[in-house]
Amino acid sequence: MIALYDVYSLFEIEPVKAAGPYVYEADGTEYLDFYGGHAVISIGHSHPHYIRRMKDQIDKMVFYSNSVQNSLQSEFCQLLQQASGLDGFDLFFCNSGAEANENALKLASFHNDRTKVLSLKKGFHGRTSAAVNSTDSQKIIAPINKGFEVIYHDIADEEAMYQDVMSGDFCAVIIEAIQGIGGIHEVPDQYLNRIMQACEQTDTAFIADEVQAGYARSGDFFSFQRSGIRPDVISMAKGMGNGFPIGGVLINSAKIPAWKGMLGSTFGGSHLACAAGSAVLEVIIEEDLQTHAAGMGEYLMKQLKVIDRISEVRGRGLMIGLQFDKPVADLRKHMLHEHKVFTGSSSDKHVMRLLPPLNINRRQADHFIRALLASIADINF
Ligand SMILES: Cc1ncc(COP(=O)(O)O)c(C=O)c1O
Repeated sequence: MIALYDVYSLFEIEPVKAAGPYVYEADGTEYLDFYGGHAVISIGHSHPHYIRRMKDQIDKMVFYSNSVQNSLQSEFCQLLQQASGLDGFDLFFCNSGAEANENALKLASFHNDRTKVLSLKKGFHGRTSAAVNSTDSQKIIAPINKGFEVIYHDIADEEAMYQDVMSGDFCAVIIEAIQGIGGIHEVPDQYLNRIMQACEQTDTAFIADEVQAGYARSGDFFSFQRSGIRPDVISMAKGMGNGFPIGGVLINSAKIPAWKGMLGSTFGGSHLACAAGSAVLEVIIEEDLQTHAAGMGEYLMKQLKVIDRISEVRGRGLMIGLQFDKPVADLRKHMLHEHKVFTGSSSDKHVMRLLPPLNINRRQADHFIRALLASIADINF
């Protein structure tokens, strides 16, 4: 017998169909997805343009290796430049967020020949070896991952991070400008600027982990962009493929030039991945989802801020954290089972995370607020 390796805690729900911000069970029960399948669903489930492009591509060709020309990859690069407004970066395709950060850390180390890494407490960078070692969660780091020294700083202690970068001893600083899993904590713009400058002075690589906060979710295309910094490496994944596994690393190639064989991936940038990725970018551009996410985030946060049971509302755009005075597990379960609304958890048990698709409308936002208020009242939370 082969059974599933039992690493996930599962809800007793099986969605079999999805459309826009909704998922459906076989009996037709509808759920509002304010979790975005873990921040993955950027343009809404089963977006018609996305499905059309994927189906067309499947009819033509799904995959060939990175040993031949693939103009779908250059099309994707152009769209990414248009959507993000970034220039002067080269793209390396991979398949997940962890892989993007693993490659980002390798690039940093190839560049300056150093091994020690600086990261933030409450950060999350994925489960592969260098990525997980840079993640402040000792229980998920296996002994084999502990191949280099990592110092995790508190966001509040900018000075300690600054002094470490200025020592010139470190290979990279890896930072989520808005921490996701840690409970939606923003790193101040001034912090990002000071650390970026220190990195430039000491040839330390600045890695912006945009795996969760990127791709228009925060109201900027990448969440660091508001601060005006120019990271050396940017990692991205979740929203890129709207459910198709795509990851990528943007590299300042003037600073870290490529050489043949430096990085590689069998599946990265496949024909089908590019079709999915380009379809997502086309929708983000066409429907101006970046502006929409910013406005819808403001609309939601204004209503959330007056709910007295919520002690703090954090975040930007459609990446919102609700801080409560007690653990939110029961409230989330009640919202799911009684009001049919998915929400996200966080490594802080008192924080509910909202990561809905970027194209939710006011009616759906109001639906969420009603479900939250009703659940708070139902269980006297
Ligand atoms: C900020 C951040 N980085 C990296 C990862 C890892 O991504 P993946 O699960 O695709 O490997 C995640 C996943 O939640 C994330 O939130």
